[in-house]
Amino acid sequence: MSIFSKQIHVNTSPGYEVIISHDVLKNCGEWLHYNLLSPCKIAVITDSNVSPLYLKTVTDSLTNWNFTVSTYIFQAGENSKNFDTLSNIVEFLAAEHLTRSDCVAALGGGVVGDMAGFAAACYLRGIRYVQMPTTMLAAVDSSVGGKTAIDLKAGKNLAGAFLQPSAVLCDLACLKTLPQSVLLGGTAEAVKTGVLCDETLFALFENGSLSNDPGEVIARCVAYKAGVVERDEREQGERKLLNLGHTVGHAIEKCSNYTTPHGQAVAAGLAIIARSAERLNWTLEPVADRITACLTELDLPVNTLYSAEALADAALSDKKRFGGEITLVIPEKIGLCTLKKIPVSKLLPVIKAGLGR
Ligand code: GLY
Repeated sequence: MSIFSKQIHVNTSPGYEVIISHDVLKNCGEWLHYNLLSPCKIAVITDSNVSPLYLKTVTDSLTNWNFTVSTYIFQAGENSKNFDTLSNIVEFLAAEHLTRSDCVAALGGGVVGDMAGFAAACYLRGIRYVQMPTTMLAAVDSSVGGKTAIDLKAGKNLAGAFLQPSAVLCDLACLKTLPQSVLLGGTAEAVKTGVLCDETLFALFENGSLSNDPGEVIARCVAYKAGVVERDEREQGERKLLNLGHTVGHAIEKCSNYTTPHGQAVAAGLAIIARSAERLNWTLEPVADRITACLTELDLPVNTLYSAEALADAALSDKKRFGGEITLVIPEKIGLCTLKKIPVSKLLPVIKAGLGR
């Protein structure tokens, strides 16, 4: 069997490479030396879950290639995605005297990518950062595209910045150490991509033939996302499609006080909006049963116990609300989704239509 290896260019300004391969972390110093950075300081930001697994590998490699390395570790979990952690990281960058010719490395999953990316965007009004995703979710989605954010009391990701990374180094070996539920959370975002744009990808999940091929899943998702981000870097239009399943998904996360992981919440949100869309005659063909069956087969949730009222309340403080309207992503068929603006007063009946089998 050949070792999977793929490089995808994201053509933003400036553009950057996404490397998807094995042993990328072990060789990150060499890659950065030859492809991106002159000798400089690199502040590696990571969390308490990831640091025992990969921090030494990364710092050894960077040090071997003459980078001056410092490290900052924060408590793992969505509850760390706040101003306190952000302030601590930015103060750390200042204490380490990083300048605009230095670099931050985000070593971890979605929370680490958000925190390190937002800190890099704030510090000195923006310094370079490199994403080193260690979870499926970060690999297929959050490490690419330059969205960085923290959560506010009012909702998830409500304060943040767009700053594209200077590179994404995705080491497939990291997926082997992930707990099954964390791996599945990322798979939910990949199924979302299949529903959005790639019926072939979705069908591969449906018949179970992709579960052993994470490199292929990640490459397909990144290639699609790269195109969307190139056309709409700051989410003025097309990029909103990537929020499929997220209006209800974020509401579930918020209602659970962020104890429901993002990927599992998105899976339920995807199934709920598919049922709503079908019941409200917004689809071109039946989609709900296929999506529900596929997610169920993968052991992902397809519903929630929170009431439609609680979900609508939570969703209406979400950033996707503009004035009196909210934009939903509607799966018209597998591989084709559209944006639909509805008055905020219609959100409750839409969610109600999607709850229940
Ligand atoms: N995760 C959705 C986006 O990057 O736009």
